[in-house]
Amino acid sequence: MIHILYEGKSKRVYVKSDNVLIMEFKDEVTAGDGAVKALAPGKGILCACISAHLFKVVEGFGIETHLLGYDGSRRIEVRRLKMVPLEVIVRNFSYGSLLKRVPLYKKLEPLVPPLVEFHYKDDSLHDPLVLPEDVLRVGLLTKRELDRLVELSLLVNHSLSRYFRSLGLRLVDIKLEFGYWRDDFVLADEISGDTFRVLDEHNNHLDKEVFRMTRSVESLLKAYKELASRLGLRVEALPTHAQGA
Ligand SMILES: Nc1ncnc2c1ncn2[C@@H]1O[C@H](COP(=O)(O)OP(=O)(O)OP(=O)(O)O)[C@@H](O)[C@H]1O
Ligand SMILES: [Mg+2]
Repeated sequence: MIHILYEGKSKRVYVKSDNVLIMEFKDEVTAGDGAVKALAPGKGILCACISAHLFKVVEGFGIETHLLGYDGSRRIEVRRLKMVPLEVIVRNFSYGSLLKRVPLYKKLEPLVPPLVEFHYKDDSLHDPLVLPEDVLRVGLLTKRELDRLVELSLLVNHSLSRYFRSLGLRLVDIKLEFGYWRDDFVLADEISGDTFRVLDEHNNHLDKEVFRMTRSVESLLKAYKELASRLGLRVEALPTHAQGA
């Protein structure tokens, strides 16, 4: 029997077997840490399809991910992992919360080398920024683990930046999550317009920034469809009317 393990803002997680989870992407969009929420029919399948594709792209660069299978629906099958309770944000250009935290940056200033940030995953605390030194001092990771997490995050960012550049797109920033696997880490969660910012040749966003800026579900879906099409994906079975999220 498949049972639900967790329901988050953007996904439902089901247990398929001891080591296998099903992640179902919801037809919902949230902004402002969940304060704004709207039904977005078709978003789930778009994010699942884009995520599955980008996990495979990353794997092509030799990076291990949790993806086990994808059947074209709004669900992906993944390896169940013990998660590192950190979000790693890699920034290639200044944007979003960085501009608020450090007003000295101008918008879309290139960050060379990319800036790596850690946020402690705790919804009730709004995922606060933590320093690498904090991570070590509280014993969340060892120095060796921390170095490896940074190395892997930069590798994922470099791989995806290169891939997007080959399609005429620019990766602004990306949020990554990892799980422990044997004596290493595996890239987990999702890679979609909900977790990165990508700009096209005209500096149009093909990511959730569209919804943050306009609060328009229609514009968001248009951007996600455009992203899928730029990645060469044909997303079938997009609902034309609202269904349960
Ligand atoms: N391979 C995996 N094994 C176990 N848990 C995973 C795996 N990949 C992702 N997760 C976890 O599954 C959940 C996915 O749900 P979702 O992203 O909707 O949550 P959320 O509302 O963003 O909240 P949060 O991500 O802060 O927990 C996250 O808690 C994520 O860390
Ligand atoms: Mg999440």
